[in-house]
Amino acid sequence: MDAIAELESRVKQRAVPRHVGIIMDGNGRWAELRGLPRLEGHREGSQSVREVTRSARRIGVSALTLYAFSSQNWSRPPDEVAGLMELLREYLVKERDEIMGNGIRLAAVGELDKLPRYVKEPLDALREASASNTGMVLTLALSYGGREELVVAVQAIAKKVAAGQLRPEDITEDTLSQATWTSALPPVDLVIRTSGEQRLSNFLLWQTAYAEFVFSPIAWPDFRGREFAEALLHFQTRERRFGLTGAQLRRAGT
Ligand code: IPE
Ligand code: IPE
Ligand code: MG
Repeated sequence: MDAIAELESRVKQRAVPRHVGIIMDGNGRWAELRGLPRLEGHREGSQSVREVTRSARRIGVSALTLYAFSSQNWSRPPDEVAGLMELLREYLVKERDEIMGNGIRLAAVGELDKLPRYVKEPLDALREASASNTGMVLTLALSYGGREELVVAVQAIAKKVAAGQLRPEDITEDTLSQATWTSALPPVDLVIRTSGEQRLSNFLLWQTAYAEFVFSPIAWPDFRGREFAEALLHFQTRERRFGLTGAQLRRAGT
């Protein structure tokens, strides 16, 4: 067994997080450190996407959500934005066989109508082709912002109230969860952020209420299967209390 397979089998011996979200950060700095254009960092980062997705699938994670492009990233220099969109298209076209072959269902969250047609088309095609796959849900957060998502959710709920279909006092946490773009996904158990930054940057604000956080100093292009499995092992050392005491949890046998 190679080193990564050994790590993965150790992860599988304990509770595997159902939903892992990754803030894939540090592509630009990775490239700049090597005297390369930032886009080369993004390109190398798509290799990490492939390897981490494979590892998550082997380990048995049921949902993997990757923060690929934020609502705020539209404000980057136009050539970087265009380069990222090209790479995204390339990924969606090239990864098709890999995704279908591994039984992965591809999903996307974000303001998808803002994406250029040359991205939206292959995205929709792959979402449709993979819709009945049951292996793992791979969700790309594209043109995504947690605040933007909550505004859209609240607007949808307000419309129902205004139309007399919903009473304000009947609005529950579930109403809001159902109105988010991630309504079909379980809450996030683990957020991984690479490259040393320790912030959420508008990622899944509602869904991470009780997530654990693992911050890695490694830049995303260098973050591969081994680093992913190590992050999961780290997650497994945490005691998730959800507001209870440690003694209560031990009594409940969790
Ligand atoms: C993450 O890498 C990818 C995107 C945000 C699209 P960055 O491009 O943010 O890399 P740094 O943080 O500038 O190094
Ligand atoms: C967050 O990274 C967005 C993605 C990883 C897609 P950023 O690099 O945009 O975040 P900030 O600007 O450092 O907070
Ligand atoms: Mg960054």
